[in-house]
Amino acid sequence: MSLHDNIESILVSEKEIAEIAERLGKQITEDYKGVERPILLGLLKGCVPFMSDLQKHIDLPIEIEYMDVSSYHGSITSSGDVKIRKDMNTSVSGRDILIAEDIVDTGKTLDTIVKLLTHRGAKSVEVVTLLDKPAGRVIPFTPKYIGVTIPKAFVVGYGLDYDELYRNIPYVGILKPEIYKK
Ligand code: IMP
Repeated sequence: MSLHDNIESILVSEKEIAEIAERLGKQITEDYKGVERPILLGLLKGCVPFMSDLQKHIDLPIEIEYMDVSSYHGSITSSGDVKIRKDMNTSVSGRDILIAEDIVDTGKTLDTIVKLLTHRGAKSVEVVTLLDKPAGRVIPFTPKYIGVTIPKAFVVGYGLDYDELYRNIPYVGILKPEIYKK
């Protein structure tokens, strides 16, 4: 029994993800030229594989920070209740922040975090996401940098989990519904 047997279909391949990371990294390098020490802020845990690819293509002196934020709690629909389990280690006052995310679904997580960082005095706050699922939006939210727009399906892999599993799959795939209907 392989982990891959629980995947219905591959939505974004490893090769496509590598191309996305290169394209967005180059774009970010252009856009942030001249900005002093931008902070690339990853939202744990889902950001990790994509952010580690992306940062290699950002040819600028950036600082790396993480926040651990959660809203799912083991189900397939967002609870909408955004919890900060680990905050970042530096002050954001006067800083340019680029948040790295795995997916934007309802928009609640990013709406909350962008508002929080703005309230803390960040100079600018933008978002780069591997996946955008606009059909899931509850709050209007448009990330500045989008890897790929996907349909309203529950996906796993490349950092995305179901009940803390499947994050280590090297592509983004649609989970077989019988897995979460059990
Ligand atoms: P939002 O607050 O609803 O936009 O959700 C953002 C977070 O929900 C992401 O960082 C993911 O952790 C999680 N999420 C949203 N859609 C999916 C999905 O299809 N699969 C796995 N996790 C998801």
